[in-house]
Amino acid sequence: MAELHEMWLKRVQALMTANQVPVGTYRYTRPAPSRYEQQWLWDSCFHAMIYRHFDAAMARDELFSVVASQVSMGKDAGMIPHMTYWRGGGLELWGEDGYSIITQPPLIAVAAQLVYEKTQDRALLDELYSPICLYHLWFDRRRDPDQDHLVSLIHPWESGWDSSPRWDAAMHLSANPSDDDAREARKKLVAQLIKYDCDAERLGDAGLFHVEVADFNAIRAADLESLAWIADQLGKPADAQKWRQKAAATQLAVQTKMSHDGQVFDLSGRAEQRIAVASASEFVVLFGGCATPKQAQQLVARLEMAQFQPEYPIPTSPTDTPLFAGDRYWRGNVWLNVNWLIWKGLLRYGYTAQAQHLAEKSLALAEKQGFHEYFNPHTGQGFGSFPHSWSGIVLDMLA
Ligand code: GLC
Repeated sequence: MAELHEMWLKRVQALMTANQVPVGTYRYTRPAPSRYEQQWLWDSCFHAMIYRHFDAAMARDELFSVVASQVSMGKDAGMIPHMTYWRGGGLELWGEDGYSIITQPPLIAVAAQLVYEKTQDRALLDELYSPICLYHLWFDRRRDPDQDHLVSLIHPWESGWDSSPRWDAAMHLSANPSDDDAREARKKLVAQLIKYDCDAERLGDAGLFHVEVADFNAIRAADLESLAWIADQLGKPADAQKWRQKAAATQLAVQTKMSHDGQVFDLSGRAEQRIAVASASEFVVLFGGCATPKQAQQLVARLEMAQFQPEYPIPTSPTDTPLFAGDRYWRGNVWLNVNWLIWKGLLRYGYTAQAQHLAEKSLALAEKQGFHEYFNPHTGQGFGSFPHSWSGIVLDMLA
């Protein structure tokens, strides 16, 4: 076991070192060479979790560089952009030079907790606490117009699952659109975001993308729990209590509004219509503690069905739907960061054997193919950018 650990450690160290980018007094890790030179929010959270196993300073720097571009003024004060262009750029698309105007799954408190548990780096918590509080308050202020404790996303890029079939209808795309059409629609939507000042309510009223996304809200619940944990470490019990209540409200909302007959649904538009497109995202609710024990049991039963258990699980879309495409970006591939979220969720609910199986399969995939961005769940073939940093998260799954 020690040898195996040493081997993976070396591989992952080499991967991360090759993708490190120094920028002035900051450092971050690009997701991958050429296509992904900028900094992405949820990628960096995964990177920090990876670094905590071998480079405490870099784990901290990765998170510091994320909050460096937090919006400080205006209506969106507190938002952490999903992309930071450290060398400038993005103006043409976003109307802002240097950062995007949308966010991504909030995993930063989770990452900070995991890093701290390993490194005991108190300065990390001191520095990050206030920005993360502002970030979650921003969600409440700007992204929950109906105040149901479920935040709404205003662009598919915010979900991290850019091209998932879940978004086709909400993007007003034809059934099973081409990758080019879907990409074009995503770009066009950014112009609308600018026009509507990124106001979730107005965008929803205009019939544009406005979706309460289950996995995103579950990740937020986990992040709020971690934020409460951090507040306790910093000797702020009243704050901790407030964040814990917020986490519980989100968990309850996912349980009661999004779950039905053992399935979990994203809710689209101001009318909150169920998006009836099955995907592996529903298993991520386990990560956020958003299922009752019975709901968890039903979810795990689904997870164990053949359509979610090809040779290399877990396909983001089940293999038995006509929309499944194992080679097409977010339309059925395996993503190791998603596997990690589900693995954590399984452990949280005590499904140890299932978690172990998923860990073994994920490691086998990285072993066979290397650190690709995503993989075909039947053949294991790697696709997308290479080498992709967050795929190093398999290191965490070794234990
Ligand atoms: C793609 C993914 C997104 C990720 C980014 C950088 O856009 O869809 O989730 O953050 O690449 O890896």
